[in-house]
Amino acid sequence: MRIAVLKERAAGESRVAATPETVKKFIALGATVAVEPGAGEGASIGDADYAAAGAEVAKDAVKGADIVLGVQGPDAEALAGANAGAWIVAGLDPFGQRGRVDDYAKGGFEALAMEFMPRITRAQSMDILSSQSNLAGYKAVIEAASHYGRAFPMMMTAAGTVSAAKAFVMGVGVAGLQAIATARRLGAQVSATDVRSATREQIQSLGAKPIFVESVAGIEGEGAGGYATEMSEEYQKAQAELVSSHIAKQDIVITTALIPGRAAPRLISDAQIATMKPGSVIFDLAVAQGGNVEGSKPDEVVVRHGVKIIGYSNTATHLAADASALFARNLYNFLSAFWDKEQGKPVLDEEIGNAVRLTQGGKVVNERLLGA
Ligand code: NAI
Repeated sequence: MRIAVLKERAAGESRVAATPETVKKFIALGATVAVEPGAGEGASIGDADYAAAGAEVAKDAVKGADIVLGVQGPDAEALAGANAGAWIVAGLDPFGQRGRVDDYAKGGFEALAMEFMPRITRAQSMDILSSQSNLAGYKAVIEAASHYGRAFPMMMTAAGTVSAAKAFVMGVGVAGLQAIATARRLGAQVSATDVRSATREQIQSLGAKPIFVESVAGIEGEGAGGYATEMSEEYQKAQAELVSSHIAKQDIVITTALIPGRAAPRLISDAQIATMKPGSVIFDLAVAQGGNVEGSKPDEVVVRHGVKIIGYSNTATHLAADASALFARNLYNFLSAFWDKEQGKPVLDEEIGNAVRLTQGGKVVNERLLGA
């Protein structure tokens, strides 16, 4: 069983899908591990560190591989020489990179999309969306703070008092919860909103103020699988009114709202931005999925009405070392949980296998893709 670790090809991608720690663990399971030279550079891991962990560091790491590990989905060139039926285990962006998924099928590969991991308790440690969103929520607040020309905490100084920043978090999933916690740690006064009613208590438990649409029912409890769906027009109108009245008083807004398989919901309009104080900062974590904020552009600082709007196309890559360590553990936790000692390879069960498997036997087999 040969596991290959790719050097990521995508522009701006600094993460890596295995660390010396996970390399050692794969070897302990009986696998051999081959790493492309420079794979860990962006995450401050040298080739020598991989070699010391027992990996072969070689340009043709993928040659003869049974499993190819990546952060993002590799293209055909990167997979050249992999064994017939090899597994590709990565964040494959199945909806956004549909053409590439078809190529995996044609190439006879078994592509496993880690972002399709079901949200069940036993799969929590395998969930790349959670591990990366958590870091992204943290980074969003840190970036917003560094673009903000004022301080977050209240400070009483001999020269006078600096007032605390008011931060509003829209979308309280994994990233939003970490954004609330980070903004609180920095000393901001934090409020937050979501469409799923279960988040109200979570917001309160972090010491922030819930701001919810009350006139129209939102999504009861956690929502199916912890996910939101598109809201009715009536709800969207009520939400827009609520946001309009709240946002003008905010200094920092962090938006994180996503709906799986769809463009991100638009939560803030240009007219609403115009009511904010000049110098305020909005970080749009959904910018790569179409954006929650009108006018936001990936990897640009857009200034509208004196308000800075920022957002990264890939937030986790800006914390490459930690993001890689967690991502690599997610992949190891996944493959090791299914490791069949006798066969010396992982064998997936139906529940998780059917959820993450995109292609098999030359065909696209995933229900979510076939239904899309
Ligand atoms: P996500 O990234 O899909 O969405 C982010 C947030 O945006 C969600 O809370 C969603 O409700 C919210 N949102 C969507 N449309 C909105 C709108 N119009 N206005 C305001 N907010 C809107 O969600 P994420 O972060 O991946 O996780 C959501 C939930 O799933 C969490 O409660 C988390 O605890 C749960 N979860 C469970 C896991 C497990 O059990 N294995 C693993 C990961 C998450």
